[in-house]
Amino acid sequence: MSMGAPKIPVTVAEVVTVNPLIKRFRFVRRDGAPMLPFSGGAHVVVEMEDHGLRRMNPYSLMSAPDDTSGYEISVRRDDTGRGGSLYLHTHVSAGMDMVVSAPVNLFPTDARARKHLMIAGGIGITPFLSQIAGLQAHGGRFELHYSARSRTLAAYADDLTARHGDRIHVYCDDQGQQIDLAALLQGQPLGTHLYVCGPKGMIAWVRVTAQTLGWPATCVHSEEFLAPPVGEPFTVQLAASGKSITVGPAQSLLEAIEASGIAAPYLCRGGACGECETEVLACHGQIAHNDHWLTPDQKASQTRIMPCVSRFTGAALVLNR
Ligand code: FES
Repeated sequence: MSMGAPKIPVTVAEVVTVNPLIKRFRFVRRDGAPMLPFSGGAHVVVEMEDHGLRRMNPYSLMSAPDDTSGYEISVRRDDTGRGGSLYLHTHVSAGMDMVVSAPVNLFPTDARARKHLMIAGGIGITPFLSQIAGLQAHGGRFELHYSARSRTLAAYADDLTARHGDRIHVYCDDQGQQIDLAALLQGQPLGTHLYVCGPKGMIAWVRVTAQTLGWPATCVHSEEFLAPPVGEPFTVQLAASGKSITVGPAQSLLEAIEASGIAAPYLCRGGACGECETEVLACHGQIAHNDHWLTPDQKASQTRIMPCVSRFTGAALVLNR
């Protein structure tokens, strides 16, 4: 049992290989009804039955927000991860029935911005595709700077350039091209908002550079869904439910709670939204806080945990769940 956004039964309408690492998946409603509209930057949670484990992974919607004929996501294959992306790449084909959540937006464009400056790294391009479609529909001013390992791996770069011309700037590592971030951030008009999505290091680099150059924190937006890490199994007592559960090596604590039939809140399942925050009643050991929601003080106190990404080692962990 789970408590995320409402669920939508869908059929996989199309699977397209975009490049050697990325596939695009299109979902349509099984009952033929239109999808819910969404806003640029929204994500859905895709449910998968992966060899006995229920995976529920968040993926940014890349289709146009007002296109209610279907939802599209792009997934980068990760051969070293827990398996969600591998499952999608190797098991999912057109015609399959699946379940996705209704869209939730934790990375919207800010309507107060006079210009939207977007910085994407690799598969971090996906939320910008729906953001750009949304801005274009309403005449929003934007500029995208997109960094990838090579032109082949720069998914959708050619489409974006064809559609939006000099508003799109592509940088390829294998050609020694790099964003001159300081110059870029210093040259922006007043009222610009900055958005970044990509690898952890890129997000930190952009955030720190913006802060150093005096950008107000309210004008800087980022999105990073953390994949729940694998680790040693551990046992947790759920005091309110009177249950003891074991979290498997490739399972998140949230997935283990859900597998035991207990309702647990979530939105992002990636350590970003705060929805799954849970009170720790007793902790004899060490929580591996893998989220970027709790403050350093909260993490040090070991009185709260984010079950979607965090793990535990030690003698006993008791949660108010
Ligand atoms: S579900 Fe969003 S932080 Fe856990």
